Amino acid sequence: IEEDSKTKEELRLKYRFLDLRRPDLQRNLMVRSKVATTTRNFLAENGFLEIETPTLIKSSPEGARDYLVPSRVYPGSFYALPQSPQLFKQLLMVSGYDRYFQLARCYRDEDLRADRQPEFTQIDMELSFTDADEIIAIQEGFLKEVFKKIKGKEITTPFRRFSYDEAMERFGSDKPDTRFGMELHDISGLVINKGFNVFDKAVSEGGSVRGICVKGGSEKYSRKGIDRLTELAKDYGISGIAWIRYTEPIKSSIGKFYSNSDLEEIARAFNAEKGDLILLASGINKVVFDSLGFLRNHIAKEQDLIEERIDLLWVTDFPMFSLEDDGHKAMHHPFTSPKLNSLEDLKDPKKLKADAYDIVLNGNEIGGGSIRIHDKDVQKEIFKILGMDEEEIEAKFGFLLNAFSYGVPPHGGLAYGLDRLCMILAGASSIKDVIAFPK
Ligand code: AMO
Repeated sequence: IEEDSKTKEELRLKYRFLDLRRPDLQRNLMVRSKVATTTRNFLAENGFLEIETPTLIKSSPEGARDYLVPSRVYPGSFYALPQSPQLFKQLLMVSGYDRYFQLARCYRDEDLRADRQPEFTQIDMELSFTDADEIIAIQEGFLKEVFKKIKGKEITTPFRRFSYDEAMERFGSDKPDTRFGMELHDISGLVINKGFNVFDKAVSEGGSVRGICVKGGSEKYSRKGIDRLTELAKDYGISGIAWIRYTEPIKSSIGKFYSNSDLEEIARAFNAEKGDLILLASGINKVVFDSLGFLRNHIAKEQDLIEERIDLLWVTDFPMFSLEDDGHKAMHHPFTSPKLNSLEDLKDPKKLKADAYDIVLNGNEIGGGSIRIHDKDVQKEIFKILGMDEEEIEAKFGFLLNAFSYGVPPHGGLAYGLDRLCMILAGASSIKDVIAFPK
């Protein structure tokens, strides 16, 4: 039976009832069940009440597309399936249920990936009269319990915290895997005004030139190997990757523009040793981070550089909004509280930081949450920044603003992706392997 695990996936899914007889899938489902039990026990002991919320609802936006269900009673009208119970849990706080949780089925019409299913489960919770530090402390206690019960391992708390900016600058990712080095370095200052137009342009347009140093990479990556990496990185928007082989003599794709001593200086910025390979990306920061962040993870996997250990960390201080072609988009969701000194700060959305936090396990975002807006006027302003007019705000979220006028405690919460958490605990490589009947 074990050997069948290599059998083509389609066949395995067609005969899932037989596939589920395999010991590793049985073990995975046992892990999942144990995580669910541990969750219920831990949260109940900490004063959380398990409350179910509906799944035929008015749309609850989390940035994906909704699945719709037609209403027979109101022809032409549709229910949405929840992308998360976000609005219901906030309404429960208004109702005075000050610690709520639920193992909630969520639906998002997104493309399948190893860590994404259109239908998945959250461990969802919300608390009143709280702040980010308290919520984070509860999660650390919870994860400690989960690792003890499921893996028999003691993990140390508190976890490290990285600001979003630090995570991006050092690892090119808002879900950094810190079990290996190969950190990014900004070398913009070193490479501009030397006659290489591509780098000059990137920096003058507000972008940057950054890179990573692959230890011993000169031998490991041939010209073809680097081309292959470049092709893969192109999916992240970069048009090319420049390279420096720190060998004797130094070889580089940008050798025409930089003298030997320039290249030595760049190598020094990376603390490179002979035999290393430096890969450079230039352009707008998002593309540079995404491409190098991808390459860093990809190369670490390919070269087996990742240490076997539990790497849990928080990422905080996210920007409130990302600026897309069609305006501002909420980085978390529109109900996340900005960190405000005064209402004046709302006038400069680009600068606003969110009171939000993501929990990252071994380079996977296993959960995320935030302190919520509990002021009607601030909430309205945020909707406006997101491009809604009064009429749209009233039609879509009038019920929430109305509820807020009846007295709303300050509140916040978090949701884990139960499938992702179980995938890592079970040592699986896809969430499909911890779901009995996946898509
Ligand atoms: P968010 O959208 O970050 O936050 O989702 C929380 C966690 O759910 C998991 N997740 C998924 N797992 C599998 N397949 C998917 N398609 C998928 N999408 C998300 C991730 C993610 O970290 N309401 C907020 C939470 C809050 O603010 O309290 C929310 O849904 O692990």
